Amino acid sequence: MEGATKLTTAYLIGGIILLGASAVLAAQFHGAAFVGGKKKKGGKRKPVRVYMDGCFDMMHYGHCNALRQARALGDELVVGVVSDDEITANKGPPVTPLHERMIMVGAVKWVDEIIPDAPYAITEEFMQKLFNEYDIDYIIHGDDPCLLPDGTDAYALAKKAGRYKQIKRTEGVSTTDIVGRMLLCMRERSLGDAQNHSSLQRQFSHGNSQTGDNSTTGTVTKISNFLPTSRRIVQFSNGKGPGPDSRIVYIDGAFDLFHAGHVEILRIARELGDFLLVGIHTDHTVSSTRGPHRPIMNLHERSLSVLACRYVDEVIIGAPWEVSKDMITTFNISLVVHGTIAENMDFLKEESNPYAVPMAMGIYQQLESPLDITTSTIIKRIVSNHEAFQKRNEKKEASEKKYYESKGFVADD
Ligand SMILES: *[C@@H]1O[C@H](CO)[C@@H](O)[C@H](O)[C@H]1NC(C)=O
Ligand SMILES: *[C@@H]1O[C@H](CO)[C@@H](O)[C@H](O)[C@H]1NC(C)=O
Ligand SMILES: *[C@@H]1O[C@H](CO)[C@@H](O)[C@H](O)[C@H]1NC(C)=O
Repeated sequence: MEGATKLTTAYLIGGIILLGASAVLAAQFHGAAFVGGKKKKGGKRKPVRVYMDGCFDMMHYGHCNALRQARALGDELVVGVVSDDEITANKGPPVTPLHERMIMVGAVKWVDEIIPDAPYAITEEFMQKLFNEYDIDYIIHGDDPCLLPDGTDAYALAKKAGRYKQIKRTEGVSTTDIVGRMLLCMRERSLGDAQNHSSLQRQFSHGNSQTGDNSTTGTVTKISNFLPTSRRIVQFSNGKGPGPDSRIVYIDGAFDLFHAGHVEILRIARELGDFLLVGIHTDHTVSSTRGPHRPIMNLHERSLSVLACRYVDEVIIGAPWEVSKDMITTFNISLVVHGTIAENMDFLKEESNPYAVPMAMGIYQQLESPLDITTSTIIKRIVSNHEAFQKRNEKKEASEKKYYESKGFVADD
């Protein structure tokens, strides 16, 4: 295992850059006081450290929810992010390279430490390392089966050691589902490619519900299983408004297929104030500006992904396209920001520039986007990789079908 030597370096989150947001957010959310990631409540008890691993390729709020649940089973959550090589060997090439996956996982507010280049399967050796070097008490995984290529249970060793705990898998979202939606979006764009994608698209059971009409596509597109509940939104929220004298920064956008580029711009925006308010545009706004098959993720899904980010204090679920004077007053916004990398920057030239008001007030600032990634970048990566995905998803689909057929009730939380 080539990655094993690198495993000794865990990335501690909650250091200088993140401390303000992460420690405070974690403390708010878990109702306990943290200093440098250690629990102070009651004094002596050693914090319970839990470990969860994953590929976190095309990360979505389902992954975030799993991390939230894992964190709730302990005091500190250490996350192993599987290396590109290990994913390629076990599932086919990842869409998102390790460094971007690290940014994504590290930005989730329930994550305390990350281990890069984690192995795909937990070996005896790696498990001992987790227990002895990383001081892990429990290894966590969802209730969906995770089988190795030889058909054995990937968590058998942890179970045998009595150090395994299970969480409920988040319903209504899977990577397979999301890829299906992207293909639907691509076929709209280039009819020439439609044939090629349609065979692939047929592999996916849950397409985006937006079209509803399958007569033209010839494929069955089911409505996503995702059932947003008010409780889930509360679970993802910090539940706290800005304090008195807070400097409130506002950023808005679609935040579709939440990616490392989004995380980085949010991180920079948060540094400019004390409270980051994020406006998420409605599905209607997004489709009217980006095309009929956008957004890939609906408003509630996009809101959850943004809420899970440690740099975000609050979101407006369905923000208006234009930043009005009324909005600035209502939320006491001090600064409105926008990144330099976006799907479309034409709005700045248009007469109906949505930032006209904050610009006139002198409270608009353009931020240099640290990463050159957009939602379209992600979609292109997936579609250009579609042969490999096809194979990967045929397998995946069979195991998901099995999961849903044998699924029983597992208590949430
Ligand atoms: C799509 O299929 C057509 C033939 O049906 C082929 O000419 C074309 O090269 C394919 N495009 C891609 C991207 O595979
Ligand atoms: C979509 O397909 C299903 C099953 O194939 C069919 O029952 C339904 O009528 C179709 N809907 C439309 C709008 O064509
Ligand atoms: C509004 O924001 C400013 C900082 O920009 C702050 O000084 C002021 O106290 C805030 N007002 C309220 C009522 O919180």
